[in-house]
Amino acid sequence: MIDFLKHMPKAELHIHIEGSLEPELMFRLAKKNSIPLPFDTEEQLRAAYQFSDLQSFLTIYYQGAGVLRTEEDFYDMTRAYMERCHSQNIIHTEIFFDPQTHTDRGIDFGMVVAGICRALDEGKKKFNISSHLILCFLRHLGPASAMKTLDQAMAYKNEIIAVGLDSSELGFPPDQFKEVFEKALDKGFLTVAHAGEEGPPEYIWQALDLLKVKRIDHGVRCIEDPELMRRLLEEQIPLTVCPLSNVKLKVFHQMKDHHILSLLEKGLKVTVNSDDPAYFGGYLNENFMALHKELGMNKNQAVALAKNSFEAGFLNPEEKRTAVLRLEAYAKGSE
Ligand code: ADE
Ligand code: ZN
Repeated sequence: MIDFLKHMPKAELHIHIEGSLEPELMFRLAKKNSIPLPFDTEEQLRAAYQFSDLQSFLTIYYQGAGVLRTEEDFYDMTRAYMERCHSQNIIHTEIFFDPQTHTDRGIDFGMVVAGICRALDEGKKKFNISSHLILCFLRHLGPASAMKTLDQAMAYKNEIIAVGLDSSELGFPPDQFKEVFEKALDKGFLTVAHAGEEGPPEYIWQALDLLKVKRIDHGVRCIEDPELMRRLLEEQIPLTVCPLSNVKLKVFHQMKDHHILSLLEKGLKVTVNSDDPAYFGGYLNENFMALHKELGMNKNQAVALAKNSFEAGFLNPEEKRTAVLRLEAYAKGSE
């Protein structure tokens, strides 16, 4: 089963590229860019990755992202992630980036996009991994800053397929960003949003009805609202669930309590994702393996989750068909 999971073709739809920054690269970049880190060693840094909730993680995560300064830095980080994708049989990935984390430090928006896209293009050529880039607005900076960021993004419309919403959820409901998302939709961006990670089901309703999202990132608190469950099921709205993240950030007390497989069995379009793999103890395959080990996920369920990842992606119908056929061939043992 472990081998089956490792080699299974799959897509990732919820990964913050800044959350793929491993301690080793963080220390190298900090030294190169003369940026002090409040830790002396990688081990000390890793030991600090004990979180009590989303905010306790975000503080450390934004501090870590502070070592990224040059186009090469963004390239190096993204290239490392693409190599992981290759080694984990991720054949399609849709990555988030948080431009405000960088522009607020005086870093050029275009340089961030250039570094990330150079590595994504290389990943396509070298490993045949397809990808899309999604800009996330930081909800704690509010709608005015998000609007300014959207205006900056217009010059990179060809590189960015969608906009999303991340960072501190509680106290920052999606309705605050209605105008920003209306403008983004009007300009031709697709939309997604983190909702129902720590926030209540009401935030998921708002993301659907006001932000017109195509997917909900996390969304695990949907379970508290039967009417919302019916809507997600009927409309087959994808949830990009991140099991290891949810346990690390105490959304669930332990993996055994996670309800991803029961959502799958109810027919919801759930997918498995890594969120911030450098901080949460693993990449996509480690998430799949945890579901097998702790929740008893079987082969059929693993294949259903991987199929959902292709169907919920921003791939065109032909690309989806090809990827699903490849997965089905693999599942039958012919790949
Ligand atoms: N930014 C990076 N990871 C995040 C998460 N899990 N929730 C909200 N914002 C994030
Ligand atoms: Zn996330």
